[in-house]
Amino acid sequence: MSERREGGGHNRPAGTGFESKAWFFMRLSGVVLLGLAVFHLYWMHFAIGVDNIDFQTVVGRWSNPLWRLYDFALLVFALSHGFNGLRYAIEDYVRRPGRRLVVKSIAYVAGFLLISAGAYIIFTFDVGAA
Ligand code: HEM
Ligand code: HEM
Repeated sequence: MSERREGGGHNRPAGTGFESKAWFFMRLSGVVLLGLAVFHLYWMHFAIGVDNIDFQTVVGRWSNPLWRLYDFALLVFALSHGFNGLRYAIEDYVRRPGRRLVVKSIAYVAGFLLISAGAYIIFTFDVGAA
């Protein structure tokens, strides 16, 4: 309900409550994503090359549990950062309480489903079935 970014910037909310922690999390996860996401892109484009990516590529990569762990970290950080950012955007723009509740509910459910589906795929993908 509060005006979050009067003057355009987004300063750390006062206190030690949820919004203050969320503010800090966005900075932390931003730095983490700078490493995880940029390296993911670099690896897919230059180490492997997008023309060479097929089912076998993923089978090869996910034979190593460390790549699964890497992808899981990317999944969790990108989606929690992205959906918290979406929450900011909703709070900034969807002003009517009823509408805000509906839009936020849809966003939370979508975020939960995407993290669940992504994690399910990462941890149940069977390299032997290929
Ligand atoms: C290169 C890595 C990234 C860095 C360094 C970064 C950093 C940041 C920072 C510092 C904020 C400001 C948070 C605030 O206002 O308190 C932010 C907001 C946001 N980020 Fe990221 N981010 C990165 C990647 C991503 C990715 C991959 C997504 C999408 C999944 C994303 C989606 C968003 C959204 C939607 C916002 C809110 C924008 C707004 O309030 O208008 N970011 N990011
Ligand atoms: C054109 C650019 C991209 C290509 C070619 C690409 C390619 C791939 C491939 C082949 C996989 C399969 C798993 C593996 O081999 O590790 C994968 C998984 C994944 N990628 Fe990307 N990627 C791209 C961009 C991105 C971006 C920008 C993000 C987020 C910031 C991202 C996040 C993920 C995540 C979270 C997974 C795991 C998905 C799961 O849960 O199954 N990717 N990517």
